[in-house]
Amino acid sequence: MVNKIIDWVVQRPVILDFVRRILENNHQGEKEVISQELPERQSQIVLDLGCGTGVFSPWFGPGYVGIDISQPYINYARWRYPSKQFQVMDAGKIQFPAQSFDAIWVNGVLHHLNDTAVSLVVAEMKRLLKPGGKAVVMEDIPAQQIISRFVRSLDAGEHIRTPQGYRNLLAEQFLVQKEYPLRTGVCDYQVFILA
Ligand SMILES: C[S@@+](CC[C@H](N)C(=O)[O-])C[C@H]1O[C@@H](n2cnc3c(N)ncnc32)[C@H](O)[C@@H]1O
Repeated sequence: MVNKIIDWVVQRPVILDFVRRILENNHQGEKEVISQELPERQSQIVLDLGCGTGVFSPWFGPGYVGIDISQPYINYARWRYPSKQFQVMDAGKIQFPAQSFDAIWVNGVLHHLNDTAVSLVVAEMKRLLKPGGKAVVMEDIPAQQIISRFVRSLDAGEHIRTPQGYRNLLAEQFLVQKEYPLRTGVCDYQVFILA
């Protein structure tokens, strides 16, 4: 029953965005991370990998490109944010040339993927970043509080890892320059800054 409700919500971008805004305090945490870690984003070419409904696209400039594997999410994102670019793509096989991006933003995607798939995605990120580029990854970690544990139990991602679990996979291609935990609304994340 609960799973059916979650599936129903996930397939309706307007409702999904609304529920997430409540659970994540209007994405305050994500917005702070974007502002602090990507201060030059307005003038940069930035890939939003696994952009979903494109909810973070307004925080970036004209060089923003969002990709997601879900056609319905991309359709919605194109309708909601018509000035931004969105494309349907598998993050494990991205159809852009090497060194296309100054920065890559990844929020809440890797916990939907198994280790083999994450390794492919991380290799793609490395290929796509320009030399000196920066990647910011923000991922769901095991919940700290009871309410958060309940929300986590509803999450569709089946591969929520400890910070160490994500770090090991990211370190296959990147130097993890900095990382820190972050709580936004009732959700617990770990932020990784990669170079
Ligand atoms: C929890 S949502 C996060 C969406 C967005 N990053 C945000 O923060 O609003 C996870 C997203 O990852 C996308 N996704 C999962 N596997 C993917 C893949 N292999 N390639 C591209 N996107 C993928 C899903 O379609 C979904 O939109």
